[in-house]
Parts: sequence; C-alpha cells; structure tokens
Amino acid sequence: MPTHATFRTLQATWLENALRQYAALSEPGPGVSRLAYTRLERQAHELFAGQLAELGIASYTDAAGNTIGELPPNAEPRPGAIGTGSHLDSVPHGGAYDGVVGVVGALAVATAAGAHDRPRHHPWRFVAFAAEEGARFGQACNGSRIVAGLTGAADLHQLTDSTGTTIAAAMAECGLAPHDAEAARWDARDWSAFVELHIEQGTVLQDRRVPIGLVDTVSGSTRLRVSLTGVASHTGGTPMDGRHDALATAAECVLGCERLALAAAEVNTRITVGSLTVEPGAITIIPGRVVFTVDVRETDHGRQRTATDAVSGHCRAVAGRRGVDIEIEELADTPPVDLSSEVRSAAGDAAAGLGLDAVVIPSGASHDTQQISRLTEAGIVFVPSHGGLSHSPDEFSTAEQIADGTAVLLETMYRLDARR
Ligand code: GLV
Ligand code: MN
Ligand code: MN
Repeated sequence: MPTHATFRTLQATWLENALRQYAALSEPGPGVSRLAYTRLERQAHELFAGQLAELGIASYTDAAGNTIGELPPNAEPRPGAIGTGSHLDSVPHGGAYDGVVGVVGALAVATAAGAHDRPRHHPWRFVAFAAEEGARFGQACNGSRIVAGLTGAADLHQLTDSTGTTIAAAMAECGLAPHDAEAARWDARDWSAFVELHIEQGTVLQDRRVPIGLVDTVSGSTRLRVSLTGVASHTGGTPMDGRHDALATAAECVLGCERLALAAAEVNTRITVGSLTVEPGAITIIPGRVVFTVDVRETDHGRQRTATDAVSGHCRAVAGRRGVDIEIEELADTPPVDLSSEVRSAAGDAAAGLGLDAVVIPSGASHDTQQISRLTEAGIVFVPSHGGLSHSPDEFSTAEQIADGTAVLLETMYRLDARR
C-alpha cells in the first residue's frame, strides 16, 4: 500500500477531476442543480456505474434508483458486506461536494482495494443512493429509506414536488420501477457494516482545525407545509383594519419560528422556513394565500416533537388572531439516530493510524447512513466544510481534506473487514 502522504497527493488530483465530472452534470445557473429523480441525477448514476465498470466492478441500479457495485473478497470469505457510498442528487443551486464526496470516496476506495492484495474477507459494496435531498419532495433519503424498508411503493404516491408530480411519477419518468420498490429492500443478514464519507456542513472541524469528524448522532428532521388562506383584495380600496392578509400572517409565523429556535439555542434546536410562495403575488393585491415550509432539526426526538408542536401552536394562534384559515401538513418526521460506536471506533483508530486528529461530533444534516443504521452497524466520517457553507454554490472542501477523509474511509473499511 502507498504511504498516506503518497496516497494523499495522488488522490487530490484524481478527486478534483472526479468532482468536476459530477459537477458538470447540472442545470444551468449558479452552483449545482441536479434534483432527485431527474435526467441529470440518472446521468450521474450512469457515470458512477461506468467508473465502477472501468475498475472491473459490475453494478446494477435497483427499482429505487440506487446504484450498487460489489468487489468480492480476495481472502477467506466471511458473510455480510462492508459498504460505503453516499448520494448524487443535489438541492437547487447547491454545491459540488454534498453527497458526491462520499461517492468519489467510494470510487477511490474501490480503486485502492482492487489494486492491492491486502486481505478483504467480506464483499465490499459501493453505493450511490438516489434522491437523498428532501428539497424536491419534502422527504429526505428516499433511496436509502426504500432499501431500509422505511418507505414502500404505496408511500411514493403521497408526496409531490412543486409542480404536483408525485415521487412515483418522477421515478417512472426516469425509467425506474416505483411499483416494485419493495424489491429493492436490503436483507440485514447480507450486511456487516456501512460507513459514509461526507462533508461536515458546519464549522466545528474548521474552527477546531481538526481534519476528521466522527459522527455520533444524526439529527432528526420534521418538515411541515403550512397553507394560509386569507382574503385577496384591492391594496388601495381596502382599509388597513379588518384585512385578512395571508403574507402579514406568514411573516409573524416565520419570526415566531426563529424566536422559538433561538430560545432553545443551548440545545441546538434549528427551525427554518426555507420556502414561501405568495398568491396572487401582485403589487396591487393583498396576498390571499401563502404556503411555506418549516424544517425542524434536533438531535433529541422528544425536543424535536415539542418544537414542532410549538411551531404549529404558534402559527395557529397567529392565524386565528388575524382571521386567516390555516392548514398544517406534516411532510416528514425522521427521528435522530445514534450511529454505531463500533464503526466510530474503527474510524477513530484509522485516523489515529494515519496521524490525523479526529473529534466526535453530531450531524445537523440528514444522511443516508441514518436509514442504513436500521439494518447494520453504520457510521459517518466528516471532512471540513469551508466556512461551514453547504446547500450553496459556495460549498467547498479542499482536495487534500477530501483525500484525508478518503484515506480514513479506506482504512476504516479494512479495519471493519478484519474485525467482523
Ligand atoms: C440533507 O442534505 C439534509 O437536508 O439534511
Ligand atoms: Mn448529503
Ligand atoms: Mn444535502
């Protein structure tokens, strides 16, 4: 095996090139736009399958759109795969690193493992998950939820994107098989461990100048769609008193959400209104209807539910006072998950063996591994995010930081392979 320093230098150039190839698969405009279950997401999966094929690794894309390749053992076989990977979809105008770092990390591991005779007793699997981002349909991690048995074929007809397209319809348009989602389920007995490489999407590693994060808990996320229906009318003719302005109501609701989260700042509750539409949306009409989304993130499910109830209660009270009708739908409620201490310890040992400092941190963002942890021992390794920015065109990690993460990923896989 090459030394870490050699691996790092070789990897940095290769990683930059691989990241560029995926970033090129984007809608026009700032950053990367490669939404879940679109032609571009499928092209990214084809690119991944092609790159695996170049390494002599056969892969398939399942009914849910996840692409999975396997490197067989080169030593006395033991049951249960050791897996790694992440997702290839993005938010609108997101960055080039979220998800893709874990996929190119998987490819780097496949390249290194395939090229050396260090023993691997377990099958090693390389996975690009479909539709991780909740940006299009509200629910995050669709591909990994399906393999974990948390989402079934019937559920795919429930949620729609902003144009009214259901998840099932979007999948079918991409040539996938939503009716056959159950066929994509993984059997827990077929797995031994899973580890995902991801950018931190926060500032802890940068602030502490530590290259590696070992995730203990992944925050949960409850997502609401709030629809306010007031009375649209003439902005000049209608007196200020007695109006039922849906946007003024929404404004109070949004600031209330922020206040609730700030009041719970010591426990890191995060509440965000990330999208809001106004109808009819004209300078001379009092807004008659507003629809906005709320995303409640917490590392404790009890606090997550309490915060969600507080948001609903606040919005209902504001709407009631202003005589505006309110409907609140819960689009998703994913609880926080504690990840495997065994995988975390293997990753910690791997980092120490490479001379890299590591720190244990929670994840504020959702991840596919959160779902996979229902099936097998699962962990996440973070690399620093410049300025903590993510879901933004300015998302950035250096190739050297990613190469460090990739080296830890590879070494974690070998350690898990030997220990399990
Ligand atoms: C996934 O990126 C999330 O929204 O946490
Ligand atoms: Mn991600
Ligand atoms: Mn993301």
